[in-house]
Amino acid sequence: MNCYLLFVMILLVFSKTPLSSSNPDLYGPCSNQFKCGNVVAEFPFWGGDQRPPECGHPGLQLHCENYNTAILEIAGVRYRVIKIDQETKRLKIARDDYEGGICTQRIQNTTLDDTLFVSAKGYVNLTLLYGCSTSIPFLPTLGNFSCRINGLNSSRGLIHPGVPTVPISCSASVTVLVYESFPQITTVEVVEQELKDGFEVEWKVDDEGRCQKCISKANCGINHQNKTVCYCQEPSGSFQECPPFSPPLPPTISPPAQTPSDAGTRGKHLMSRYCYRIE
Ligand SMILES: *[C@@H]1O[C@H](CO)[C@@H](O)[C@H](O)[C@H]1NC(C)=O
Ligand SMILES: *[C@@H]1O[C@H](CO)[C@@H](O)[C@H](O)[C@H]1NC(C)=O
Ligand SMILES: *[C@@H]1O[C@H](CO)[C@@H](O)[C@H](O)[C@H]1NC(C)=O
Ligand SMILES: *[C@@H]1O[C@H](CO)[C@@H](O)[C@H](O)[C@H]1NC(C)=O
Ligand SMILES: *[C@@H]1O[C@H](CO)[C@@H](O)[C@H](O)[C@H]1NC(C)=O
Repeated sequence: MNCYLLFVMILLVFSKTPLSSSNPDLYGPCSNQFKCGNVVAEFPFWGGDQRPPECGHPGLQLHCENYNTAILEIAGVRYRVIKIDQETKRLKIARDDYEGGICTQRIQNTTLDDTLFVSAKGYVNLTLLYGCSTSIPFLPTLGNFSCRINGLNSSRGLIHPGVPTVPISCSASVTVLVYESFPQITTVEVVEQELKDGFEVEWKVDDEGRCQKCISKANCGINHQNKTVCYCQEPSGSFQECPPFSPPLPPTISPPAQTPSDAGTRGKHLMSRYCYRIE
């Protein structure tokens, strides 16, 4: 028992955060990948049957629909996930509501949660204006389209590069992201194809690179403060860094004489390693 207490003491001294009792073993579940169609995701994503919420950021839940379409919802808008690049932290997504064309019934802006995402280099804003009055002076347009949507006064639609800086007399406006080489004169077909091709964003989770400290025998996860933690395998629990498994001897404490007899198998294993070192 003395040996066990000593071991626990040393564990507390050497780990930066104490053992968490509420997440006893998330190492295993967070080893799983989220897989759906061609999309494979790891930290900081979670979702599906494979990865519980603790394995990722609350804003990065993935759903798998029809066994082949990964869906991510951002600010109430559904996006189809086209590609996830874990190395560059880049995510390619496309508006799911524009799958069927530009005349969608529910009009919503592409709004990124800027605590979580930044649009990737090379992408620019494009605004689709719905239900516009006849002419809007000083508003550059790349093209026009016609949509008959309930609730719009007019079917006239305009495609504007960027975000309008002059007052606009249109019923609704939707800002989306498109690649910067977008043509200067365009048609609705080009816009629709661009919307289907999607755009890239970078996720800003774990910018401090803490996940890299969860080296061997640990998986990264997210705690209630949305900060990166390590789910360690031995000893199991969540830590900022996995505590050393066989800590060096503190010089002032004398070795205990008793051998453990009543601890569980894992405890015995840990203790025997530790007690062996000090004997
Ligand atoms: C989109 O954003 C613009 C500018 O912030 C706003 O005027 C417009 O009403 C928004 N459109 C929708 C459908 O919410
Ligand atoms: C797009 O417009 C929004 C809102 O005006 C702005 O915050 C964002 O920086 C713009 N993005 C790009 C890539 O210009
Ligand atoms: C709408 O676009 C077409 C080309 O796609 C152009 O011929 C026409 O003049 C435009 N109409 C208006 C009102 O801008
Ligand atoms: C739409 O029509 C209504 C009623 O005619 C009018 O009050 C409103 O200002 C119009 N909205 C726009 C954006 O033109
Ligand atoms: C964590 O992130 C979610 C989703 O982005 C947000 O709603 C929540 O407020 C964040 N929590 C904290 C403690 O920052």
